[in-house]
Amino acid sequence: MTILVLGGAGYIGSHTVYELIENGIDTVVADNLETGHIEAVHPKARFYKGDISNELFLDNVFNKEKIDTIIHFAAYSIVGESMKNPLKYYDNNLCKTKALLETMIKHNIKNIVFSSTAAVYGEPESVPIYENDKLQPSNPYGETKLAIEKMFKWADTAYALRYVSLRYFNAAGAHISGNIGEFHNPETHLIPIVLQTACGKREYISVFGDDYDTKDGTCIRDYIHVSDLAKAHISAVKYLKAGNESNIFNLGNGTGFSVKEVIQTAEKITKQHIPYKIEQRRYGDPAKLIASSEKAKKILNWQPKYDTLDGIISTAWNWHKNHKNGYN
Ligand code: UFG
Repeated sequence: MTILVLGGAGYIGSHTVYELIENGIDTVVADNLETGHIEAVHPKARFYKGDISNELFLDNVFNKEKIDTIIHFAAYSIVGESMKNPLKYYDNNLCKTKALLETMIKHNIKNIVFSSTAAVYGEPESVPIYENDKLQPSNPYGETKLAIEKMFKWADTAYALRYVSLRYFNAAGAHISGNIGEFHNPETHLIPIVLQTACGKREYISVFGDDYDTKDGTCIRDYIHVSDLAKAHISAVKYLKAGNESNIFNLGNGTGFSVKEVIQTAEKITKQHIPYKIEQRRYGDPAKLIASSEKAKKILNWQPKYDTLDGIISTAWNWHKNHKNGYN
């Protein structure tokens, strides 16, 4: 079995490649390295540099490698940027995935695991959030991911393309080895920013709003370890290989932590004081996002290993303190 990981040089993609290789699975990575890092690609993965919308590039990969299933991470994922430049997101995320599907169908590759997001739900009516809750994305990033899920559904009906869509909540943490971790440029995510402050790279962290209807007024999120997400992809590949129907799963821990709790936990782990300033709310931030992942636990037999925020932040700190400038 050979798995092709698109976007395998990115944060969640690179951790999934490590997980595949640690499980003895033959792995090929394709990435255009626009936001990914070649240093993050596992040395045992065969690497191809190129874009998923480039048919000739993918023809070459599919002709050289016997690809069985695709895991697709290649996308832009900055919510704020998607608000300012929605067409960039429609083009890169939706149009390029449509081109990918055409090439897959041409090569008779029928299984795909897709990197989706909690952003497809928008502001939830209640928590925990279930897969069949209302889908009302509040930003173009979430809209493009939802549009892709719908495109997969119709491609399944028309071409028997089978997919598993994994809706991640807040991915966090780093590989246990400390060799790979989270590094975006610019960084917008809470935990890396908190840890960069602990490292002295930032003076303080801006907390976006403390007037939400939550226990301490700051937003609540469900943080899930990136290696637990990686494991779910392998379960999803096995699920498709067993001939099961297309499906959609939430992936989270089922516990919510506020921004202030994340800062306090990071202070405990890093033994550093982490200064913060309360600022305006960030446009489009839901107050509370917590997953129900019961479906993934039941059907994919998935069980997250990192079930505490301390455990998740410890692995992230292990990466950050030794990679203050990321992969640079
Ligand atoms: N936050 C701050 N200060 C910062 C950064 C973040 O207070 O400097 C707060 C945010 O307002 C939010 C929480 O920390 O309340 C988490 O923010 P992140 O940016 O880390 O994550 P999001 O919840 O906004 O977004 C994540 C993924 C998206 C995905 C979304 C799904 O990054 O790709 O979850 O809900 F779409």
